[in-house]
Amino acid sequence: MTDKKKIVVLTHGGAGSDPAHADGTAIAGQMCMMSLQTGESIIDAACQAVATLEDDGRFNAGIGSHKRSDGTVEMDASCMNSTGTFGAVAALDGFKNPIHVARLVSQSEYRVLAGRGAAEFALNQGFQPITPDEIANTGKDFSTTDTVGCVVQAGDEFAAALSTGGIDEAIPGRVGDVPLIGCGLYAGPAGAVAATGDGEAIAMQVTALRAYQLIEQGMDPKVIVPTVTGWFKESTAFGLIVVSKTGFAGGSNRGMAWTASEMAL
Ligand code: GLY
Repeated sequence: MTDKKKIVVLTHGGAGSDPAHADGTAIAGQMCMMSLQTGESIIDAACQAVATLEDDGRFNAGIGSHKRSDGTVEMDASCMNSTGTFGAVAALDGFKNPIHVARLVSQSEYRVLAGRGAAEFALNQGFQPITPDEIANTGKDFSTTDTVGCVVQAGDEFAAALSTGGIDEAIPGRVGDVPLIGCGLYAGPAGAVAATGDGEAIAMQVTALRAYQLIEQGMDPKVIVPTVTGWFKESTAFGLIVVSKTGFAGGSNRGMAWTASEMAL
């Protein structure tokens, strides 16, 4: 009989999301678990969780994405695993599940595709664009919400995935931390990290890589979350989910819907 693998999945709906919407992050975690149970890879399972959050409509990603100042929708998404796979899209104009496009970029010769090229890549891969009218985030004040994310442990492997509709009313072309490796997310043999919040501040701190280095130094995730949150001013929205071989944790200096679940597989 083979030993069972420890599975840990954390999902978040973004710094500033309503903690009462944790039903959405819980369902995303369940979708991730089901993907692993059906034999999908850990990075595909993390992307499945994020696609579920993109489809929710209450979070700033996928059909819940904020609009730019000109009324367009531009999305960023990324995924990474602990064996050196990374892919991202930036300023991708109006697709329902940018995380699935980022995953296909990770399987291509490229690491990041942006703007018109990312949209052409998505169309060539068979993705259907959506119009700003098909975005669910209309007439509701979700303007403070930010990014969805997932980190996963499956035995000795780790993965992370992120997706965002970016900043409400930002100028077209603005790109935050999500598609920048080591800024919004990082995964390595010691664990995985996914951040949320002010993308410019997160990028300038190279947040995810530096949080990952704290895991490598042996710091417990329950200490990493408040430590890394302390790198940011209170006026700067920030949140983090972390999983390592020794534990997991999540938190934000704003409200945040997030969920953790464990099983053996
Ligand atoms: N954290 C997502 C963004 O600022 O775009």
